[in-house]
Amino acid sequence: MPQPEKQEQWGTRLGVILAVAGSAVGLGNFLRFPGQAAQNGGGAFMLPYFAALLILGIPLCWAEWTMGRYGGLRGFNSAPGIYSTIWRHPAAKYFGGLALLVPLMIYMYYVVIEAWCLGYAWDYLVGNLQLGSDQAAYAKHFEQFVGAHSDGFFYEGGNNALAVIIVLTFTVNFVLIYRGLSKGIEKFCTVAMPLMACCAIVVLVRVLTLGTPDVSKPELNVLNGLGSMWNPNSEYLLKGQTWLAAAGQIFFSISAGFGIIINYASYLRKKDDVALSSLTSASINEFFEVCLGGLITLPAAFIFLGASALTMGTFGLGFNALPNVFAVMPAGRFFGFVWFLMLFLAAITSSISMLQPVLAFLEEGLGLRRRGAVVLLFVVTAIGSGFTVYFSKGLTALDTFDFWVGTFLIYTLAMFQTILYGWVFGIERGEKELHHGAHLHVPRLVQYILKYVAPAYLLVIFGTFSWQSLLSHEEVKFEISEWAAHDEMAGFDSKMIPAAFKTRLEAEKLSLPTDATVTGGNAGGVWTIRDVTGKPLYIVRDTRHRETFSVAAYKVGTLEALLYNPAALWSVIFILVVTALLMAGIFIAGRRWQREGRLPIVDAPSFSVAKARP
Ligand code: ALA
Repeated sequence: MPQPEKQEQWGTRLGVILAVAGSAVGLGNFLRFPGQAAQNGGGAFMLPYFAALLILGIPLCWAEWTMGRYGGLRGFNSAPGIYSTIWRHPAAKYFGGLALLVPLMIYMYYVVIEAWCLGYAWDYLVGNLQLGSDQAAYAKHFEQFVGAHSDGFFYEGGNNALAVIIVLTFTVNFVLIYRGLSKGIEKFCTVAMPLMACCAIVVLVRVLTLGTPDVSKPELNVLNGLGSMWNPNSEYLLKGQTWLAAAGQIFFSISAGFGIIINYASYLRKKDDVALSSLTSASINEFFEVCLGGLITLPAAFIFLGASALTMGTFGLGFNALPNVFAVMPAGRFFGFVWFLMLFLAAITSSISMLQPVLAFLEEGLGLRRRGAVVLLFVVTAIGSGFTVYFSKGLTALDTFDFWVGTFLIYTLAMFQTILYGWVFGIERGEKELHHGAHLHVPRLVQYILKYVAPAYLLVIFGTFSWQSLLSHEEVKFEISEWAAHDEMAGFDSKMIPAAFKTRLEAEKLSLPTDATVTGGNAGGVWTIRDVTGKPLYIVRDTRHRETFSVAAYKVGTLEALLYNPAALWSVIFILVVTALLMAGIFIAGRRWQREGRLPIVDAPSFSVAKARP
């Protein structure tokens, strides 16, 4: 099989480990992880978290490193080519498209958050973020900075500083990937990773030595701050959501199912170790996530803001709570700068890794030279990021990309890859390949996990996730069955929400927007209470001829939600358009590779397991 003219390679073993770890360590470690843990049982979250790490994360990394090096040695660096060397079927390359789509689309919104971090670091440097101890001021600053109040503000000159920062962030990313694998990505990660660790440790020491900053509130101290993150709430172990969140966090954090590791590993040489390198990168990621991210973000927020910090979620913690904390902590301006610089570094070592898989495809699949591939990738990602910042109201585009690509497609790709490894590549061949040049013996058990346990675990998780998140659900909250029910509910007939009904909702601690409306009719005996966008909030059913009414809260699934939110619908259409373009590119690449004799010619579709090459 002819090799491409000049294949790129990593410079050193440490370099590739740091590059993979750099890809893994990112905003997920410092912002997403603490937010997820706090919302899913604190210390109890760690049980499903470590189960997902051991059963899914680490084995899948081994599989990706192994398949990546295997494909690389057969002349391919992009997933469509690599998958085709493993599964000799015309469809294989199109599945590879998924491993291009995921990093490409995630880059489009991730780089925007990366730019926010740089913007916040700059704000600290020039003293723009000392807004006192009023929590609302930070929320307002963030909302204005990112344009969360209205769509299109970015293009109306709403925030020129953000425009400059986004252009700068884009430029740095593209300069690094233009310089190439070893001179760009590897060199940068070799410097950025230790620098990032130093910055994080500086902030960690500051947080752990805060003691009890406000003596009038002795309960807000470091120990309780750590407890807020780590005290286990075992109730959460019985909730499916906790297990889902844990698996999702592992994939996002470790960059497994992203299409990145398979690409990075394809630049290894035949004798390079993959077994120990994979484990080392995953361990570095865990150190940053559990020991640094887990000890800084939430404890710091708790010490100053109390229990309200626990429910703030990823962006609330990162861009509202922590700036507030830095404003009131001694030398906060300095620590705020160090923290956001560290976040920026963590993000950029991840975002460059999201560009490389697609760059490799443009070069080897479409035959573009480096410069042309970089320019094309720049244009495509600029359009995508431009789309993200246009639909900034409520961060809809960003959240929609994150859900469909950053969660749904990551699960899909992870599942495809475990099946590809366990059932097509084969665990016997996989084990042999994994141990080629290995500096670590990986127990046979891992192969069985990859073949049987991981796909089953993923299937259950993926099924539950799809059921819970994609589809809409009703949950009966209360019944109105007294003799007064008829009078109470009569208002619905004239499309009004009866006052008695509102009072009852309040008593049940259920919210109702003031502009809610009623649809539905008398004949059916079913009324739907909707918000201003038409989204159903509650369903009221006349269950016993005006004597009993049941009231159910309506949880709109992600699919139905698209009907009520045009920006989310456009975002999904955008993802589909990018998918179609990638598939067209893969079709062209496939013809090209076949002409060059680089792909096995398959006359008829066949799903048989590929035989090991001699
Ligand atoms: N793995 C990267 C992160 O955690 C994407 O942010």
